[in-house]
Amino acid sequence: MAIASRYNVGGVWLPRPFKIRRLGHIGLTLEDIDEGLRFYHDLLGFKVTDWYPFEERFPEHMRKPQFRDTKTVFTRFAGDHHSVVLLNRPAHAVLEPDPSRRYEGGITVQQISWQAGTLREVVNADQWLQDQGVATQRAGRDMPGSNWHSYFYDLNGYINELYYGMEQIGWNGVSKPFAMHYRLFEQRPQIPQMSEYAEVNEALAHGIDSASGYRDEDGEERYDVDGVLLARPFKVTQIGPLGLFVPDVAATAAFYQQLLGFRLTETVTWNGLECAFLRVNTEHHSLALFPLAARERLGLSTATTTAYLGLQVANYAQLRAARDFLRSHGCREVPWPDELSPGVDYAFQVMDPGGHLVRLYFQMDQIGWDGAPRPKRPGVPDEWPEVLDMDDPYLGPPFLGPLG
Ligand SMILES: [Fe+2]
Repeated sequence: MAIASRYNVGGVWLPRPFKIRRLGHIGLTLEDIDEGLRFYHDLLGFKVTDWYPFEERFPEHMRKPQFRDTKTVFTRFAGDHHSVVLLNRPAHAVLEPDPSRRYEGGITVQQISWQAGTLREVVNADQWLQDQGVATQRAGRDMPGSNWHSYFYDLNGYINELYYGMEQIGWNGVSKPFAMHYRLFEQRPQIPQMSEYAEVNEALAHGIDSASGYRDEDGEERYDVDGVLLARPFKVTQIGPLGLFVPDVAATAAFYQQLLGFRLTETVTWNGLECAFLRVNTEHHSLALFPLAARERLGLSTATTTAYLGLQVANYAQLRAARDFLRSHGCREVPWPDELSPGVDYAFQVMDPGGHLVRLYFQMDQIGWDGAPRPKRPGVPDEWPEVLDMDDPYLGPPFLGPLG
């Protein structure tokens, strides 16, 4: 596909009218939301920012007692209102009126959400993607979370989202009150829009209590985490990369490169299967693509096409502590071949209750101006040392704010 035009994106000519900056959040579907919360909230430390009962969107006669808990839960690890959203998979499969929004065929991620730089980029992208023949789903602004967005499908049916302006949770840990959710949009907005600061002014003038949003509780703070007491011995500091199994790695990589502006960092051939690692910023990869045949060779469940969700923790000592902590809480560790982990050395994988591998690591190689990945470091030993002798770790953006 030849894309001949160029677009002024914030004063710079680019081949498309937007630039993806990072993986922002992801929606995961599970059979049991309470089990999901035990894993993501209790064990991994994600805090709930908002939730709503999915079934309440439907008339009484459509509700099914077998879905004992249909709430959709928004969780965060930092200021972003949500980084991981948990949704009830069986309830969506039965109740969702739009078949394209049900989770079938092994797609168990509900959305893969990429942050753009500005609202103008999102608005222009929504039209541009349509013009390129991409199947778009909807545009506007959802609540909770307040982010402006354009939703569309990749060639495999994965729902991607391009968004701007995620609500930020501040020092008091309180989300935006539901009474402020009236600035919801169900179509592509006209721009310019009022700022969020002006929205807050408006809400205050209407007498809305700005402190009346949701505030989560956490467990007892028993662990000294690098000088701060926390309820678990580590802190998740970043979400991603995301790994997907796809029928055609080359075609999928071409979609993300040509339409969304990803760059191919490297390909890896493993057992004769080609895998692709794509980036959107200086991180070695934000998206890893593996052929479906690799899923079988890896011995993973055929119930999901998600290969893994990466989560970064603050440092190596915390990664080791996280491993011990999750093991001691009964999490099943799953091996992952070193060859399929370019750019990331020390990492381990546990299974979430929805069948998704969650891959914890502490640092990823950064790619510079020349686009060349670092030569592969020596393999990770079976027995992790207590202290690493590693050249130039902890690159990339720092975690902002306190660990807890
Ligand atoms: Fe989203």
